Amino acid sequence: MGRVLVAYGSSEGQTAVIADRIGDVLADAGHDPLVISTKHPPPELSLSRYDGVVVAASVHMGTHQPDAVSFVRENLDALERVPSAFVSVSLTAATDSEDAGRTTEAYVEDVLQETGWSPTRTHVVAGALKYREYGLLTRFIVRRIAGKERLATDTSRDHEYTDWDDLEAFTGEFATLVDDHSSSAR
Ligand SMILES: Cc1cc2nc3c(=O)[nH]c(=O)nc-3n(C[C@H](O)[C@H](O)[C@H](O)COP(=O)(O)O)c2cc1C
Repeated sequence: MGRVLVAYGSSEGQTAVIADRIGDVLADAGHDPLVISTKHPPPELSLSRYDGVVVAASVHMGTHQPDAVSFVRENLDALERVPSAFVSVSLTAATDSEDAGRTTEAYVEDVLQETGWSPTRTHVVAGALKYREYGLLTRFIVRRIAGKERLATDTSRDHEYTDWDDLEAFTGEFATLVDDHSSSAR
């Protein structure tokens, strides 16, 4: 069993739900997860106490949540010492095309370049369209983008694109990496 930190940056809450699911899968695999928001990390947080770290962040206007990126930058040394994963949440990940694949890769690469982080794993996850939570202008802009990407434009409800089975499989593999690392460190 290892302690695993799951730190997330989220605007409308989908990445928070994703982080919670990652925590549930880690707990089912026998680990002891702590899920925190990078907006309000606990003041006494010490990453050196963890055997693995997952950072999850959503993309808005082409960039990942700034507080999640700062969290990576500020904790780089500790992140490099244990198995770590970066989970990138975006709507581009909901589109199955080569162009979309290149865009999501570029989103991830930007964070790694910007911070100097080399996570053990990276993973791209489709988020959600939360029309009911957007203000008028955001709803208008996001609806236009969604239309171009052939995603849902019915603003009377929210639309979720997250592939939970895929996320659980990814997290299960990460749980094994933490196990392997913990047993080799013993
Ligand atoms: C104002 C706004 C801008 C967005 N910009 C992008 C973007 O540039 N690229 C992208 O792939 N998704 C974009 N998205 C989609 C979000 O990444 C997606 O809705 C995700 O689920 C948000 O996660 P969160 O609720 O954890 O913040 C945008 C969403 C909003 C509301």
